[in-house]
Amino acid sequence: MKLSILVAMDEREGIGWRNRVPWYLPDDLKRFKQLTMGHHIIVGRKTFESIGRPLVGRRMIVLSRSQHAALAQEVVWADSLEKALTICRVAGENEVFIAGGAEVFRAALPLVQKLYVTRVLTVVEADTFFPPWEEREWQIVFRCYHPADEKHAYAFEFIDYIRQGL
Ligand SMILES: NC(=O)c1ccc[n+]([C@@H]2O[C@H](COP(=O)([O-])OP(=O)(O)OC[C@H]3O[C@@H](n4cnc5c(N)ncnc54)[C@H](OP(=O)(O)O)[C@@H]3O)[C@@H](O)[C@H]2O)c1
Repeated sequence: MKLSILVAMDEREGIGWRNRVPWYLPDDLKRFKQLTMGHHIIVGRKTFESIGRPLVGRRMIVLSRSQHAALAQEVVWADSLEKALTICRVAGENEVFIAGGAEVFRAALPLVQKLYVTRVLTVVEADTFFPPWEEREWQIVFRCYHPADEKHAYAFEFIDYIRQGL
């Protein structure tokens, strides 16, 4: 089972502001949907609250150290990353997407084989950042530039990395 991170970050690796993603980039959301459709997504409790609903066609595992009542069928609570990954494995998943936020990225980063990064080509006000990572330990396997336009306030790049040596 492959473990991947999916993240959008600005040039200073900011990912969030006041429990929101600090930009609205519809083509990035479209790619998020295409990549994750039919798969398991693991998110932290704060990110889940920020999204506020299950995502159609995907099973979301929400990490929290507290007990929570069961939600919709597509949303499962887990109190550790290990338990979340076991749920995915038992379900026969082939690629699990870690979709944030920062605390969950930090826990998952050492285990992850692939990073799908959307690098937003600006610096925004942020209070949440992607954890430190060594870019030279990762090899770029895909890169695609998207200009700013009437629907996208910022230009951005999709950059996919795999861990060197894999
Ligand atoms: N740009 C992006 O790609 C992106 C993606 C996702 C989120 N974000 C942004 O990131 C921000 C949220 O990030 P965050 O770091 O503050 O919060 P978060 O990671 O979404 O959620 C943190 C919470 O998740 C639970 N948790 C985290 N790790 C856990 C573990 N290993 N085991 C069990 N529970 C665990 C805990 O919940 P309890 O407190 O309930 O125990 C913790 O308080 C928001 O601004 C959001 O919009 C950005």
